[in-house]
Amino acid sequence: MKHLISPLDLSVDELDKVLDLANDIEKNPDKYREACKYKKLATLFYEPSTRTRLSFETAMLNLGGNVIGFSEASSSSAAKGESVSDTIRVISCYADICAMRHPKEGAPYVASTKSSIPIINAGDGGHQHPTQTLTDLLTIRSLKGHLGNLTIGLCGDLKFGRTVHSLIESLVRYENVSFVLISPKELRVPDYIRENVLKANNIPFKEVEKLEDVISDLEILYMTRVQRERFFSEEEYIKMKDYYILNADKMKLARQDMIVMHPLPRVNEISVEVDDDPRAVYFKQAQYGVYVRMALILTLLNINVK
Ligand code: NCD
Repeated sequence: MKHLISPLDLSVDELDKVLDLANDIEKNPDKYREACKYKKLATLFYEPSTRTRLSFETAMLNLGGNVIGFSEASSSSAAKGESVSDTIRVISCYADICAMRHPKEGAPYVASTKSSIPIINAGDGGHQHPTQTLTDLLTIRSLKGHLGNLTIGLCGDLKFGRTVHSLIESLVRYENVSFVLISPKELRVPDYIRENVLKANNIPFKEVEKLEDVISDLEILYMTRVQRERFFSEEEYIKMKDYYILNADKMKLARQDMIVMHPLPRVNEISVEVDDDPRAVYFKQAQYGVYVRMALILTLLNINVK
C-alpha cells in the first residue's frame, strides 16, 4: 500500500504516469465516471481549506465514489483530545482512502504509520503540500510542454509556504532547472531546502529581494501569499504582508511566454487587474487540481480504467 506524504514518494516515472492519467481524464472524463463506484474518500481537515478539500471531494464524486469527513478540528473528536493515530485507525474502518490536512508538521506521516488505507498529505503545517505540487507540475507540463529546461521564480513567503518547499523538491529531479527565489530576507526558504535540496543537487539558484530586477528572466513566476497563520506576531505579519504586489506595470517587464501561477488563496500579492492577462493561469491551475487528484486517487487505489 502506498501513501503520498512527501512529493518524493512518487518516483519521476510514477509521477509521469499520474500526469499522463490526469491528461487522459481531462480529455475523456466519461471513461472514468464509475471508476470508484462504492469507494469512499475521507477528508480529514484540521485546518482551513477551500480548493484542496473541495477538489478532492469533486475528484472522488467525478469518479463515481462517495465522500465523508470533517472540515474543521472543532467538529471532530480532536476537540475532545483524540489523537491523530486513534482517529485514523477508526477512519480506516470506514473509508478506502484518506486526505488529511493538519497544522502540525508530520501529522499525516504519523497517521500513515497507523493506517490500513492510503493516506494523502493535503498540507502539514509549513512543511509540505505534495498534491498542490502535482497540480503545479500538471499545470507546467500542460502549458509549457515540459518540466525540465525552465527558469522558475518563486516569490513571497518562501519560509512558511509549504507549496514552495514541495515544488522545489520535485522540480530539482528534472534537467536544467534553475530557481530565482524572491523574498524579503525574513521569509527566505528554510535552510534544509537551500542546503539539502538545492546545493546538494547542484541546482543553480539565486536569492533576491526585488521582483522587478528579475521578472524578465523568468519562464514561470510562482507567487505566494504571506502565511499569516504561521507568524509569531501580528506585527511581524503586517510588516511583510504587502511586500510584493504583482500588477499590470510589473507584467509589462515580463516575457510574453511567462506564466503566472499561484496556489491560491490570493490576498494582495496579485492585483486583480492581472487576472485578465493571458499569462495569468492561476484559475486554470485550480482546475488542473481536480484532474490530478482524480489520477492520484485511482493510482493509490490501484484502479485501472481500460
Ligand atoms: C495553499 C496551502 O494551503 O498551503 N493553498 C492551497 O492548498 N491551494 C497555499 C496557501 O494557503 O497560501
